[in-house]
Amino acid sequence: MTYQKNQVLLKADNVHLSYGDKVILREINFTIQDIVRPNVQQGQVVSLIGRSGIGKTQLFKILAGMNKPTSGKVTIGKDMHEVREGEVGVVSQNYILFNHRTVQINLEIALAHNDKNYTDSDKINLIKDYADKFNLSEHLEKYPLQLSGGQRQRVSILQQALTSNKFILLDEPFSGLDALVIDKVVDLLLKISTLDELNTLIIVSHDIENTLAISDTAFIMANQPNKQGATITEKLDLIEMGFAWEKDIKKEHKFQDLVNDMKFKI
Ligand SMILES: Nc1ncnc2c1ncn2[C@@H]1O[C@H](COP(=O)(O)OP(=O)(O)OP(=O)(O)O)[C@@H](O)[C@H]1O
Ligand SMILES: [Mg+2]
Repeated sequence: MTYQKNQVLLKADNVHLSYGDKVILREINFTIQDIVRPNVQQGQVVSLIGRSGIGKTQLFKILAGMNKPTSGKVTIGKDMHEVREGEVGVVSQNYILFNHRTVQINLEIALAHNDKNYTDSDKINLIKDYADKFNLSEHLEKYPLQLSGGQRQRVSILQQALTSNKFILLDEPFSGLDALVIDKVVDLLLKISTLDELNTLIIVSHDIENTLAISDTAFIMANQPNKQGATITEKLDLIEMGFAWEKDIKKEHKFQDLVNDMKFKI
C-alpha cells in the first residue's frame, strides 16, 4: 500500500481539562496528517475510542472549538491557528436539524453555508444527487421528526458534508442503529472521506469494531493507574496493520483479534 503522510491538519497540544479539582482529561497529544495516495482522493478518518464516561464528549467539544480546555490547545489549518467554533462540522448525538423545516430545506441551509458559489440549480441538483446516493430521496419533503433515527442521522451527516467544512466531528455515529443501518452509515462516511483530499472525519465512540473498521488511525482513551483523568494510552496505525481502506475488513480474523484486544484496553 503506497501512501505518504504530509502536512499536519490538526494538532491537539497537551490538552488538559478539569472541573474544580476533578481532572477529566490529561496530557492529550496527537496530530492528524494529510494522507496522500497515488490516484486516490484520500481523506482522513481518525477515531478516539474509550469507554462510557471517560471524557470523549468533553474532548469532542474541545476539538470543535465549543469548549476551551483548562490548558493546552487545539490548532488547525495552514497557519495552525486555535480552532474556532463553526470551523469544524459537528454531528452530535442530538442531531442539529431544524425540526420545523423539511429535510430538503435543512440541506439547502447547509449549502448556504458553503463557501463555493453554487447557483440555485446547482444546489438543487447537488442535493438530489446526494439524497440519491444516501437513500434519502423519498424523504426530502418530510420533517425530521417524521424520519427514523437512522434516517435522521444520515441527514445530519449529509448536512455536514454539504457545508464546506473539511473537518467533520462525529460523536457516537453508530449508537442506537441496527447492523444494516450501521453499514449504510459506514458507506456514507467512507464516501465523504474520499470526496476531497483534505476531508477529515474524527469519530468519537465506544463502538470498537465499527469505529476501527473505517479508521486509518485510532487513539485509545483510558485512565492510567494512580493518575486522575483520561489520556491517550495507545495509537493504532490501521494502514500499517493492513486494515485501512478494506471493504469487508470486519470479516477478517486478524481484525477481530484486534477488536478483542482493545476491549481489554478501554
Ligand atoms: N460540567 C461538568 N462538571 C463536572 N463534570 C462534568 C461536567 N461535564 C461532564 N463532566 C464529567 O466528565 C466526564 C466525562 O464525560 P463525557 O460526557 O465526556 O463522557 P463520554 O466518554 O462521552 O461518555 P459516553 O460514552 O457515555 O458518552 C464524566 O465523568 C462527567 O461526569
Ligand atoms: Mg459521550
